[in-house]
Amino acid sequence: MSKIILTGDRPTGRLHIGHYVGSLRRRVELQNSGDFDEIYIMIADAQALTDNFKHPEKVRSNIIQVALDYLSAGLDPAKSNLFIQSQIPELTELTFYYMNLVTVARLQRNPTVKAEIQLRSFENGIPVGFFTYPISQAADITAFKATTVPVGEDQEPMIEREIVRKFNSIYGETLVEPEILLPDNEASMRLPGTDGKAKMSKSLGNCIYLSDDEETVRKKVMSMFTDPGHLQVSDPGKVEGNTVFTYLDAFVEDGDFDNFLPEYKNLDELKDHYRRGGLGDVKVKKFLNNVLQERLTPIRERRKEYEKQIPYVYDILRQGTEAAEAKAAVTLDEVRASMKINYFDDKELIGAE
Ligand code: TRP
Repeated sequence: MSKIILTGDRPTGRLHIGHYVGSLRRRVELQNSGDFDEIYIMIADAQALTDNFKHPEKVRSNIIQVALDYLSAGLDPAKSNLFIQSQIPELTELTFYYMNLVTVARLQRNPTVKAEIQLRSFENGIPVGFFTYPISQAADITAFKATTVPVGEDQEPMIEREIVRKFNSIYGETLVEPEILLPDNEASMRLPGTDGKAKMSKSLGNCIYLSDDEETVRKKVMSMFTDPGHLQVSDPGKVEGNTVFTYLDAFVEDGDFDNFLPEYKNLDELKDHYRRGGLGDVKVKKFLNNVLQERLTPIRERRKEYEKQIPYVYDILRQGTEAAEAKAAVTLDEVRASMKINYFDDKELIGAE
């Protein structure tokens, strides 16, 4: 069986380092591993409209921003199809068929949907489109017969596997049950905001963006939330819940200590010193800044190049979208045949030669 990746992001803003450690970094690794036969990376504009339907301009303008972030982070159009969700009508069609397979109660119980609804406090009740977005997400994944879906923790648990099982049991083996791939370390799973709040979010102003310049990143790092009880350098400090250390957990790689802080062998040694007392926040922040700049500089530089070639980037999206639609069309032919709604292809039904 082919190994196929499908994943994506809502285009409601530029991507930040939470997206990077939560999913983007992993996608690039998987892409470059050569282990996958097909890769589809989706800019989920239709899903973004489910809670931004009054702000189409915001969604429209962020498509190119997300595309620039993808390309700068290392997604390579020669290996990955970057595409725009709304341009693939098969996804909407499949969503409609899946709606028969999911109960209202099942959606209401879904913890991701619950959390997302709470987050948004819709004034006039919950729009049906938003309520059903997990169904459309199942369509996104299965239309490509994806085997692997690398996402951040907030995308779990969804209902695609249930839908696949139900569809196959009613209509016959047609769809592929995907594997959800979460980040492998806790810190990357849910990177907090620079203020220590649970989530990076544009409205809280606590994000470090992939497109931030060097000085902006440095300032954000130097003003990050640490341990409020760690007042003097000599005080013992807490590492748990200390945002600077959480970021280090998510970002530090072999070689970073050699390059930037050779007095310590590894992160455990640094943490021990901080816990004992005698290690100041500024020193740890400077180290984090060096690590982040090292990861972000190549991304930033590639972004500058792509920003000069916007028509080329739209061309990449157009080509990716064409490839994605061709793939989804094949699946939908199979789905319609399984569901017995392929009337005009059925010679027996029509009775003509
Ligand atoms: N929900 C994702 C986000 O908020 C975007 C998305 C839409 C997605 N459909 C998907 C992710 C299918 C993975 C698989 O960014």
